Amino acid sequence: MTLAAQPATLRPPLKWAGGKRWQVPYLRPLWESHAGRRLVEPFCGGLAVTLGLSPGRALLNDANPHLINFYRWLQKGLCVDLQMENDETLFYGHRERFNRLLESGKGESQEAAALFYYLNRTGFNGLCRFNRTGEFNVPFGRYARISYRQDFTRYRDILADWTITNVDVEAVPLGGSDFVYADPPYDVEFTQYAKDGFSWADQERTAVCLAKHRGPVVLVNQATPRIQALYQKLGFAVQFLDAPRRISCTGDRTPAREIMGTRNL
Ligand SMILES: C[S@@+](CC[C@H](N)C(=O)[O-])C[C@H]1O[C@@H](n2cnc3c(N)ncnc32)[C@H](O)[C@@H]1O
Repeated sequence: MTLAAQPATLRPPLKWAGGKRWQVPYLRPLWESHAGRRLVEPFCGGLAVTLGLSPGRALLNDANPHLINFYRWLQKGLCVDLQMENDETLFYGHRERFNRLLESGKGESQEAAALFYYLNRTGFNGLCRFNRTGEFNVPFGRYARISYRQDFTRYRDILADWTITNVDVEAVPLGGSDFVYADPPYDVEFTQYAKDGFSWADQERTAVCLAKHRGPVVLVNQATPRIQALYQKLGFAVQFLDAPRRISCTGDRTPAREIMGTRNL
């Protein structure tokens, strides 16, 4: 597969599990002949792919309401006026405040968006996890140094023309000619990106939904045998990519393999 040179683009504003910035050089040649279409990411996560491809028109969706609230505030030109320091006491104070906002129905406020950014930068591994009662419970991250951005107005212009939704993958309002890039949570036993996790049944209904789309589709996932079989059965052309991350459990430094399934390209 040909790798395209990467022009300067805005960096993803958050740390997000499963970020696919490394895939942009693989995707650019696939996208270029369709660049007049709308780019749709049903699982947009950290925005690495859409920011990397910089389409004129895009629909960004994710089931995580806090992530989507943050992006909606970016569209309005967010400036964070919160105290932001890499300090454990401040972190737990801000975490508590964030949870009280959620509890009192103010999860869509600008303050919630600013706190979400701070917690993402300062918490452990940029994780977004909630306990059974819906409280954000990620611990302090213990980083040596963290740089915080206060002014996000650079993101406003690029996000202004993009539509942002917060629905389940099957409810994403696709148009027939959309170019879909789908990066669902990995097919692994303990996936907990969203509060409810993502089961094998979710993988199957995602695959069926993507296979119904009449426009171009690119699907990526962990290269498990059942994911490969699922997408091949639905008529996707399948190839493999070596991810920059390693398979940690074997300790042999083998690159983790990802699958890229394509249709109607
Ligand atoms: C692997 S991440 C996407 C990473 C993204 N491509 C990036 O580069 O940062 C998967 C995303 O799917 C979202 N998600 C989980 N279940 C979903 C569902 N049923 N519908 C839509 N999005 C969902 C999660 O919140 C998470 O952000």
